[in-house]
Amino acid sequence: MAHRLLLYAAAALAVLLIAAAPLLAYDVPDKIVIERPANYEKLNSWVTKVNFTHGAHAIRVSCNQCHHKESDKTLGKFVPCTQCHKSDDPTDESGFYRAWHSDGPPSCLGCHTLMRSKGGKNPVGCTSACHKPR
Ligand code: HEC
Ligand code: HEC
Ligand code: HEC
Repeated sequence: MAHRLLLYAAAALAVLLIAAAPLLAYDVPDKIVIERPANYEKLNSWVTKVNFTHGAHAIRVSCNQCHHKESDKTLGKFVPCTQCHKSDDPTDESGFYRAWHSDGPPSCLGCHTLMRSKGGKNPVGCTSACHKPR
């Protein structure tokens, strides 16, 4: 009887591990280049693509402060922001522009402005911090 239970428990555990493995199969990227899709209107002539130090951020800020649609219960899908934030309308709160520039976190500029107001060293200059001329 005890043997049987142990066997069942082992089988259940194996099924669980097999089911969980693909969900956890993502890498945490170190560097990410964020670029406006070519067919989107350029809002300013100086806007360049942004080299984002994702890894350095991921050790300073918790994942779901940025990946705001993740919960502890999703086991981490971590889809790209742009999978949802794809509208070309700069006034759309779930559009491309506002994901990076809205007033508060989790936008880049929103978080940096907030942390800076509390004495942080976060850069906030458009072309000195993010859209560096090239
Ligand atoms: C400071 C904000 C921030 C933090 C903190 C952060 N991420 Fe990200 N992450 C991003 C951004 C921005 C992208 C790029 C999304 C895009 O290109 O649309 C991204 C992309 C990713 C991707 C790649 C998605 C894909 O398929 O292209 C994964 C995986 C990921 N993050 C996991 C994590 C994990 C795990 C953590 C915590 C250990 C974390 N991130 C912390 C902002 C952040
Ligand atoms: C599953 C879809 C989805 C993903 C993935 C997603 N968002 Fe969002 N985001 C939304 C929606 C929808 C809203 C509108 C408000 C709400 O429902 O939370 C939003 C709102 C926001 C806002 C507030 C905008 C404003 O104008 O107030 C910011 C900033 C933001 N997202 C940044 C990000 C960043 C950065 C990432 C990736 C690290 C990301 N989002 C990933 C769907 C998503
Ligand atoms: C939730 C808060 C938060 C968000 C969102 C965030 N950052 Fe940061 N960022 C930080 C912190 C914290 C630092 C480290 C500041 C310091 O040096 O003390 C930093 C530093 C930086 C730096 C300077 C150091 C380096 O790694 O190059 C750049 C550039 C930068 N962030 C760009 C971005 C971009 C681009 C995004 C959006 C894709 C973003 N950040 C989103 C918190 C944030």
